[in-house]
Amino acid sequence: MIDSGFSKPIRDIIKSRTSIRTFSKAPLPKSLDEKLTELLNEPQQSPFNGKCGFHTIDIPKLERDEQKKLGTYGFISGAPKFIAVTSENDSNYFREHIGYVLEKIILHLTDLGIGTCWIAGSFNKENFRAQLGLKDDVLLPIITPVGIPAKRRRIKEMGIRAMFKADKAQRQPWSKMFFRGDFSTPLDEKNAGDLKSAFEMIRLGPSAANRQPWRILVNSDGTICHFFIEPSNAHFSNFARFDIGIATCHFNLSLMEAGIQGAWKIMDQPQERPENYTYIISWQKT
Ligand SMILES: Cc1cc2nc3c(=O)[nH]c(=O)nc-3n(C[C@H](O)[C@H](O)[C@H](O)COP(=O)(O)O)c2cc1C
Repeated sequence: MIDSGFSKPIRDIIKSRTSIRTFSKAPLPKSLDEKLTELLNEPQQSPFNGKCGFHTIDIPKLERDEQKKLGTYGFISGAPKFIAVTSENDSNYFREHIGYVLEKIILHLTDLGIGTCWIAGSFNKENFRAQLGLKDDVLLPIITPVGIPAKRRRIKEMGIRAMFKADKAQRQPWSKMFFRGDFSTPLDEKNAGDLKSAFEMIRLGPSAANRQPWRILVNSDGTICHFFIEPSNAHFSNFARFDIGIATCHFNLSLMEAGIQGAWKIMDQPQERPENYTYIISWQKT
């Protein structure tokens, strides 16, 4: 067991995590269910200092008609349980915070052999809200199914993956995501020094519709990394804020494991950038 509570190096867990949309119908074994409860009850911190709530819904405990109402438009099949993440919208950075803390939980669940899938769009939000009895001012931006992955993906799931070009081998190249000094100079993997592995872990992360909106600008001496999003279109700009939270989680866990120290800071618009990029946060080596 490594200090972080993970049983394997974080890069192995990040590489093995993949969205699971087809589950074996069996409930989670009791020991795993208890582990899940423990993880959800731990205090959750992120560089964004936000807050969020975790709720679980056990599908077999619901009446048949209640089960049917918790639809995911056929995206998810057989999940025995869902985690629903709520927010009271009390910080500008609540989406980034959820991105960070839920991804950390998802990586722990991956380590335990539990399947998950980030879902921001393809679920019947009103019916999930009603099932949880949420007040009007509480947001429910994200859910994930949890369960044991089925032996094989359904054909529909394979279609979804093909549509998003979701496989890790199809992620965008370094030259689209990482830059040094300014945004016209791509950062070459060979020149990324001791941050190379942490950047690669960003590149392999999940993102809404696999849009990979992360853009990282490293200063010329490699000591400060500025995180931006390039959402491509307005429809995805809110979802991209979860994605950047996920990126900071992968980056931070990789650095912590490598013993590289640094601090996070939200700066006043730190750098020249293309017009459609939104600055989010910076990390500085200490
Ligand atoms: C913030 C966020 C929202 C997502 N929303 C959905 C969704 O609504 N429905 C869905 O099927 N997948 C959703 N996904 C999963 C992505 O499509 C998936 O992560 C991406 O295609 C890469 O595949 P992988 O997770 O297997 O690496 C979402 C992922 C993220 C990070």
